[in-house]
Amino acid sequence: MTTTSSYAIEARGLVKEFRGARGTVRAVDGLDLVVRPGEVVAFLGPNGAGKTTTVDLVLGLAAPTAGTVRVLGKEPARAIADGQVAAVMQTGGLLRDITVGESVELTAALFGRTSPAGPFLERAGIADLADRTVGRCSGGQQQRLRFAMALVSEPDLLLLDEPTAGMDVRGRRDFWTAIRHDAEAGRTVVFATHYLQEAESYADRVVLISQGRLVADGTVAEVRALAGSGSLEDVFLDLTAEPAADPSARTTAEGGTR
Ligand SMILES: Nc1ncnc2c1ncn2[C@@H]1O[C@H](COP(=O)(O)OP(=O)(O)OP(=O)(O)O)[C@@H](O)[C@H]1O
Ligand SMILES: [Mg+2]
Repeated sequence: MTTTSSYAIEARGLVKEFRGARGTVRAVDGLDLVVRPGEVVAFLGPNGAGKTTTVDLVLGLAAPTAGTVRVLGKEPARAIADGQVAAVMQTGGLLRDITVGESVELTAALFGRTSPAGPFLERAGIADLADRTVGRCSGGQQQRLRFAMALVSEPDLLLLDEPTAGMDVRGRRDFWTAIRHDAEAGRTVVFATHYLQEAESYADRVVLISQGRLVADGTVAEVRALAGSGSLEDVFLDLTAEPAADPSARTTAEGGTR
């Protein structure tokens, strides 16, 4: 793994707006966020807080409305093209008509390699599913496949958007064992989750956002201490506003509805 910058992710004044017929939604609202190499960061926030949008900006899948984001010291698209970043996204990214094993081999081919699928399937706990057609796999099995595919490029930075959604108890345990193993080898991991227990058990650091803004950032212990009870759930509920039922309620940026 090569690292070309002192930061894995460096976002400064990051803003992303979506313009629609009913006004402008400010999904990310001036986010300053620095992630250092080797950190395992839990990215928390209510539905619609801006987690996936931020991940998209870090992956270069969307362009910021304002501000900048650098990944391993590079433009996001460059870091991806160099195979230094991989992601497990909430949806998509799979071809239903090929097998699990072929999916991993195809991903390897995209990186100009001819890696056998076996070791990656093993790490994702789906070695026995190599010959199954993707479309016949269960939701949790497909999520494990996304994880196996994300490991293929041996990325420096792994972005996981609700990676364990739909996984069973053992699946989650296996998944996090694999992630911790990779993190100990120096890989940087940023994961969005609604399972606060995953943040408490596996993250070095918790970043909590609400309505596109950072509302808490620190070690699990530091963030827990923000609530009198010392529970991460209480901090979450205290610091995150009610989700906007109507996203256009957030259209007026300054002062807005917070
Ligand atoms: N392409 C888009 N066009 C318009 N609005 C969008 C678009 N993508 C996201 N949004 C809005 O931006 C806000 C942030 O969405 P985002 O998907 O980043 O939230 P999230 O934190 O990932 O939520 P969840 O926990 O539900 O996955 C939401 O209000 C959403 O409706
Ligand atoms: Mg999301």
